[in-house]
Amino acid sequence: MDEKVFQRFNGDKVTDDMLEEASKLFSENYGVWSEHAAQLMGKFAKAGSRVRLSKERLRNEYLPSGISSYVRVSVNGHLAGNAFACRWTVNGRTICWITQLVVHSDYRERGLASGLLNEIKLDGDDAYGIMSSHPAACLAASKAFGSSMNTVSFEYMKVNAESIMQASPVRYVRNAKLRGKLFDPKDASGLVSSVDTGFYVDHEEPLEALAWVRESMEWPLGELLDGHEFILILPARRRSRSSSARRSGTS
Ligand SMILES: CC(C)(COP(=O)(O)OP(=O)(O)OC[C@H]1O[C@@H](n2cnc3c(N)ncnc32)[C@H](O)[C@@H]1OP(=O)(O)O)[C@@H](O)C(=O)NCCC(=O)NCCS
Repeated sequence: MDEKVFQRFNGDKVTDDMLEEASKLFSENYGVWSEHAAQLMGKFAKAGSRVRLSKERLRNEYLPSGISSYVRVSVNGHLAGNAFACRWTVNGRTICWITQLVVHSDYRERGLASGLLNEIKLDGDDAYGIMSSHPAACLAASKAFGSSMNTVSFEYMKVNAESIMQASPVRYVRNAKLRGKLFDPKDASGLVSSVDTGFYVDHEEPLEALAWVRESMEWPLGELLDGHEFILILPARRRSRSSSARRSGTS
């Protein structure tokens, strides 16, 4: 049987060696640049070549604050996936944002992304956010932070997305432009809950996943367009007073 080990670290405990491994995992497994990426983003984004991230960028842009978290999972001693999260506050509420999530291609579709996100949660978190072009990342987040995609509160996202994102210390979150019918009822592009991030990663794999997901459920986040990603923001599930009171024996 496989030995699966999840580990969580505060941002300030993440070493350069850990980031070196994370950079390798990302650069070998995240995805490739799309056909028009070089034209739209610069020569570095050569069509078909792998999207890369250095350990310096991981540290500075994905773990920028003191309350950042890094969670990794190894299977039989091999790094199989990891997730980065950054926290900040808005009107006294703590937002935990998944700044990066990747699972090695040999270890996908066995619940590791859901497990990583489940592990990243802290008791004081009031809301969780993620932007991703991959439907599986959104499904994993809805499962770990809420209960399922069918119970997502679109009203919560509509009301809170802008203020949460504007306050982010993470540049790409702050600069993302909200798109879709949820944020603009006149939007007729087919987008529902999306962001324009200008990140032209190839969408072949996420679109295949989307087609597959749509065979079994009503996908609520809409279409996926080039340079765009889905966005999901979920309030933290709170234990009801009655159930915590029952556990502690009070009434
Ligand atoms: C997105 C990614 C992290 C998912 O990792 P994973 O470990 O395979 O995900 P899980 O096994 O936890 O699956 C989560 C959900 O997505 C579904 N899923 C996973 N892969 C899928 C696929 N290719 N097509 C359709 N559904 C898929 C699972 O069935 C599960 O749904 P359920 O909870 O309703 O059963 C992984 O595919 C990946 O690293 N992709 C490349 C990088 C990327 O796009 N990262 C996201 C950027 S934030």
